[in-house]
Amino acid sequence: MLKGLFAKKKENGLDKNKLNIKDLDPLNIPKHVAIIMDGNGRWAKQKGLPRIAGHREGMKTIREVARVANEVGIKILTLYAFSTENWKRPQDEVKFLMDLPQEFLRKELDELIEQNVQVKMMGFDQQLPEHTLNAVHEAVEKTKQNTGLILNFALNYGSRYEIIHAIRNIVDDVLAGNISKDEIDEKLMNQYLLTKSYPDPDLLIRTSGELRISNFLLWQIAYTELWYTDEFWPEFNKQSLLQAIYEYQQRSRRFGSL
Ligand code: FPP
Repeated sequence: MLKGLFAKKKENGLDKNKLNIKDLDPLNIPKHVAIIMDGNGRWAKQKGLPRIAGHREGMKTIREVARVANEVGIKILTLYAFSTENWKRPQDEVKFLMDLPQEFLRKELDELIEQNVQVKMMGFDQQLPEHTLNAVHEAVEKTKQNTGLILNFALNYGSRYEIIHAIRNIVDDVLAGNISKDEIDEKLMNQYLLTKSYPDPDLLIRTSGELRISNFLLWQIAYTELWYTDEFWPEFNKQSLLQAIYEYQQRSRRFGSL
């Protein structure tokens, strides 16, 4: 019934650039949204600024997007903050990116707590500097009782390595006799991935006009809806997120069936 009402409203024509939360169907909010936050460097370059200025501006976008995601009722927001391939960047940029979580959490943690957000991290601890890990672990600890949005930072995350790591652990468990080879199926594989506590993403957003996945959640996005925007990450805002969700709600998800 409610869904029907929303369908009617959309037929009457809605300006997609001026969406409000109430324009979204509350019964069809994506539970898990993943974002490849791309274009910080290009945003800075076009303004004649150093690349790191783009990352700092991108940090502000995270703040706004997390707030809106929470308000809209998204349960999990997974943000690709640093990939296992990003170590190849110039040392000073890597250092800056490794300092950002601490800076972000120093500025935002109180508000995240107030907003009932749970901070989580998904990635491989090795290589991450101690101060980065400490800042994230502290935030995870201080927000673990919260029940609102899960703000999940993918830090030193790479999907191929995640899959290799899962396979190694499965093999270990088979060899130890904890599981049999025949028990290996999709459900079991999910339990060995870093996303084991979360459902697969419903919606994957990538900014800056690039049309690729860049080693992000390869297993988990089998049936995820993809949405791209030309906006650079520092330009992405409330309106962009509402538009992505609105367009997601127009799609018919069939998961391989009719
Ligand atoms: C991609 O843009 C962006 C990144 C590799 C880093 C994303 C990080 C942030 C938005 C801030 C992280 C903050 C916290 C709190 C974890 P790019 O540098 O590849 O841009 P380009 O493609 O234009 O060069």
